[in-house]
Amino acid sequence: MTEIRLRDVRKSFGSTDVIHGIDLAVASGEFCVFVGPSGCGKSTLLRIIAGLEDVTAGAVEIDGEVVNGTPAADRGLAMVFQSYALYPHMSVYDNMAFGLENAKLPRTEIDVRVRHAAELLQITDYLRRKPKALSGGQRQRVAIGRAIVRDPKAFLFDEPLSNLDAELRVAMRRELSALHAKIGGTMIYVTHDQTEAMTLADKIVVLRDGTVAQTGTPLELYNSPDNAFVAGFIGSPRMNLIEAVAEPGARGTALRAGAARIEVPPLAGLAPGGQVTFGIRPEHIAMGAADESDLTATVAFAEQLGGETYLYVDAEGLPQLTLHQPGQVPVRQGERIGLRFDRAEMHLFDADGRVLANGLVP
Ligand SMILES: Nc1ncnc2c1ncn2[C@@H]1O[C@H](COP(=O)(O)OP(=O)(O)O)[C@@H](O)[C@H]1O
Ligand SMILES: [Mg+2]
Repeated sequence: MTEIRLRDVRKSFGSTDVIHGIDLAVASGEFCVFVGPSGCGKSTLLRIIAGLEDVTAGAVEIDGEVVNGTPAADRGLAMVFQSYALYPHMSVYDNMAFGLENAKLPRTEIDVRVRHAAELLQITDYLRRKPKALSGGQRQRVAIGRAIVRDPKAFLFDEPLSNLDAELRVAMRRELSALHAKIGGTMIYVTHDQTEAMTLADKIVVLRDGTVAQTGTPLELYNSPDNAFVAGFIGSPRMNLIEAVAEPGARGTALRAGAARIEVPPLAGLAPGGQVTFGIRPEHIAMGAADESDLTATVAFAEQLGGETYLYVDAEGLPQLTLHQPGQVPVRQGERIGLRFDRAEMHLFDADGRVLANGLVP
């Protein structure tokens, strides 16, 4: 079992600073996902752990040992890339056996390992085929198999499912989860897809511009974002984020946004006139009678999916809001509806996007 730690890791390419001092710990056996928008430094960080890039400053530790000077090949980690990087002229079996042959493992041991990995990944029937005779999903399985046979200290995945179509991605996601449950190794998985992160991770590290925006379990990030960036990035469809001005209100504080004035419980540290952003997820906006509502909005369009309904609504002076309602909601485009925000599910952020409160309850 293997623990991986980064201590104040920094990376510059020439004069461009890409990683700005990252501390994190990946526990033994953990499925840790690095997620963030394209260009935020996910691959660079993974390559630093793998030993494919040097750090500019800071330390990478594997099981308490600093490995900054250890070449990639000697770190005992296995990396799986988006491009499968299989040898086209070799059979699936030979692709998986190749690294072990180079390491001069006995033939019988190689055979046991390849067949075991093939069974785990359900590719035993394809062992004699060449990669070109396989589907994308099967090729990606071979690439993962090649990592498994090495019995690495940890697996590093860089967007391994990005080349697959949507349906296959979902299926492979399940398989990866099952694989992790079976082999129990430490895994670090990079993706820009927050759904992939939410479904796979024990722990998510959200990266933004080369820094850690927040670390936590999927539901910790969903329920208690530390900042407006994480609030907007985690969750699909996105959390509604609305700029507002704090004012004294009848019950403590009021948030003025566009034509709406939303009374909320008293909030410490919220100066009148202060600029804030509040967030509310699509499933936490209720529809109701106008006299009990926080504001009235016009339905711009409705997505009726049968089991659930998405509404996109416009209100004066506000960005378009998304509502997610269970079941079927009989509203038409252009209809006026009342909206009520669940106070316990409202998030409040200061002018710099730092969280002031997750849940506005007295
Ligand atoms: N070898 C390199 N030379 C110069 N800049 C690089 C190099 N590799 C990555 N970068 C830059 O570092 C930033 C982070 O890249 P990367 O780690 O690939 O992001 P991600 O994987 O999150 O999309 C980007 O701005 C990218 O252009
Ligand atoms: Mg990348």
